[in-house]
Amino acid sequence: MLIGTAMSAHQSEGNNINSDWWYFEKNGKLPYKSGMACDSYRHYKDDIKLMKRLRLNSYKFSIEFARVMPEKDVVDYDAIDHYRDIIAELKKNGIEPIPTLWHYTFPLWFYKMGGFENRKNLVYIINYVKLLLSRGLDARYVLTLNEPMVYAVKAYLTGRYPPFRRSFRSMLKVSNNLIHLHNELYDILSREGYKVSIAKNMIYFGKLRRVYLPFGLSEYIYNWRFIKYAKMDFLGLNYYRNVDPFRLVRRRSNKTDMGWTIYPYGLHSIAERYYNAYKKPIMITENGIATNNEDLRKKFITEHLNTIITLRKEGVPVIGYHYWSLLDNFEWDYGYMKKFGIGHVDKKTGKRILKSSAETLKRLALKYE
Ligand code: BGC
Repeated sequence: MLIGTAMSAHQSEGNNINSDWWYFEKNGKLPYKSGMACDSYRHYKDDIKLMKRLRLNSYKFSIEFARVMPEKDVVDYDAIDHYRDIIAELKKNGIEPIPTLWHYTFPLWFYKMGGFENRKNLVYIINYVKLLLSRGLDARYVLTLNEPMVYAVKAYLTGRYPPFRRSFRSMLKVSNNLIHLHNELYDILSREGYKVSIAKNMIYFGKLRRVYLPFGLSEYIYNWRFIKYAKMDFLGLNYYRNVDPFRLVRRRSNKTDMGWTIYPYGLHSIAERYYNAYKKPIMITENGIATNNEDLRKKFITEHLNTIITLRKEGVPVIGYHYWSLLDNFEWDYGYMKKFGIGHVDKKTGKRILKSSAETLKRLALKYE
């Protein structure tokens, strides 16, 4: 089985100066600055060394559109080659590269044209992907979009991410454009032989969805609608939390530093439901906890991986697991306060330091390889 970690470009690379996020971080519309992040753009070989040391065999990362096309008509071929180098280094170390083509950030020029709200703009993303392919994208699995619904909700409904909008209609419009974009990219990529999916954030809504219509509808829009219309070879599943009201009030359940209740059974329930409906394999593309309590992180990792093993025993083909994240990194509108990593970076020296939970992941990776 594939077992590894995940990170994304803007959150880990540092200095993403041509992106929309960088622009809004600088002018104060976003509360925190990403700055040098983990400086992984320069230290990616050190990151890969850590993965190797931990006997991990898979890595989900993202390619930064704002680096590849910093201006509308400018392609930075060095940036493309940089990502090719990452993939080559991963493969040299026996680690499966799981590239994600878009993880929340844009080049500022694309943002200024209206980003995903304008369907005419999608051609620029399609061209960016074709460009990557023309240079060679040496991977088996490709994720087109990271959590399109989280993006649509946070950028267009709750107004926390650029362009900070609060409109249900815009949120739906953007999610429809993202479905359309994904399907276009699916056709291009699958013609080339890649196994294609998205990284789909799924939340466990509990049983109330069955009897309380607004809850059921939210669950459908958030969890299932995109999947219903998107072409996929497997489901890339990001699972972090449940919003089951019955469970939320239970005082006994542990919470993460994001305020999310920990509930591994939610992953079981969602994976089982998906498989029963679509009969396609599932890759856990992200699962993680923000905490400073290493015992809690160890428990979290162990319980979620055990859930996957149970699913596999029951005949649900889960082909991989990626813990979010390798290193503490830039947690979007929460900055550096939230610690998801099994490792962290000494900002002065750039040295990568593992936490004790890294050993837990290593032990489980060896057990289930
Ligand atoms: C996102 C990551 C984020 C993580 C923790 C996922 O929804 O893909 O970018 O850091 O959750 O909040």
